[in-house]
Amino acid sequence: MSGSSPLLRTLAIETSCDETAVAVLDGDGRVEANELSSQIAVHAPYGGVVPELASREHLKALPMLVRQARDAVEADIELVAVTAGPGLVGALLVGVRFAAAYAWARDLPLVAVDHLHGHLVSPFLDLSGGTARPMPERVLALVASGGHSSWYLLVDGEAHRLGRTRDDAAGESFDKVARALELSYPGGPVVDRLARRGNAGVVSLPRPRIEGAPFDFSFSGLKSAVIRFIRQNDLGGGGESESPEVICDLMASFELAVVDQLLTPARALVEEHRPHIITASGGVAANTLLRERVQSLGDSLGVEVLLPPVELTTDNAAMIGRSGQLAHDRGALADPRRLDAHARRAWQPPGMRKLSVQDGAS
Ligand code: KG4
Ligand code: ZN
Repeated sequence: MSGSSPLLRTLAIETSCDETAVAVLDGDGRVEANELSSQIAVHAPYGGVVPELASREHLKALPMLVRQARDAVEADIELVAVTAGPGLVGALLVGVRFAAAYAWARDLPLVAVDHLHGHLVSPFLDLSGGTARPMPERVLALVASGGHSSWYLLVDGEAHRLGRTRDDAAGESFDKVARALELSYPGGPVVDRLARRGNAGVVSLPRPRIEGAPFDFSFSGLKSAVIRFIRQNDLGGGGESESPEVICDLMASFELAVVDQLLTPARALVEEHRPHIITASGGVAANTLLRERVQSLGDSLGVEVLLPPVELTTDNAAMIGRSGQLAHDRGALADPRRLDAHARRAWQPPGMRKLSVQDGAS
């Protein structure tokens, strides 16, 4: 989908939530540097992200990460891309102001990136030195993260939302259930590990659907049923390695129900939109069962499946760089003196259609 001129070598900055990330991509979308400083240890004692702490940590980490990324690449930067929303506004502002100052001081073009569009392009990136894969005309894409769970149709790279969660995001439900068991934050990876030791057929859990909205889904009833089961059986508090069989079985059953909820609309969406590729991205796309199930869905429907490298499922700047390159190629440019952070989707980001303030955070 790129024009005939080569894309520009890009410095990308992502600070929307609890990861400070900086990347450099060459004009072919090859990831030349991919630096990340995770704040998980800072937020873990609180069981979730504390916005003020996130901003402070971004301020500390960002200049150092930019230096590291620049040191890893000899060639000149030609474009600056930064996540401008959605996310925590104070956290976003750190990246936005840094990127704007960087671009302004060097007279470089600047692009504002929608965090979700970054996730949407992440499956097309390679972390083993390859160029980014061109995006086919129609991509059916699931984004499932800590703040977001939706299906999109990407048409020539532009995202049209087809279905979404009506309450919690998938990752959020993993995080809340793990918290109820007093397991470590974020919950997704620990639930994934426990589920591998359990049997998903043991605990039966609800899979509520939304009447009249077949492509939307809900996780809050499922999450509440799991938390009720935890309280009724007085489970949790023993830590991950000490978790008894009943917790492993519960986590396997819960994980399967989440994956079912996410994938239930997929078959009908494929039939309706005839995509060239199906993708899944966002932190929950690191999940072992989700990856297996998306792959087998594609196999059974005869549609290619493309998943991001596990390292690029959670927040990173490489995806922001790629999204920024494609947006710039379509003519998007931000004014470094005016660019602001947008906590919610009340702005017109490049590459996203059907804007809605109900979309929520990243
Ligand atoms: O995309 P991401 O890094 O941040 C947001 O934009 O929200 O996603 C983080 C979310 C967390 O809720 C985390 O629990 C979940 O992704 N996650 C997983 C796994 N790894 C991370 N969920 C299920 N299984 C995993 N292996
Ligand atoms: Zn994200």
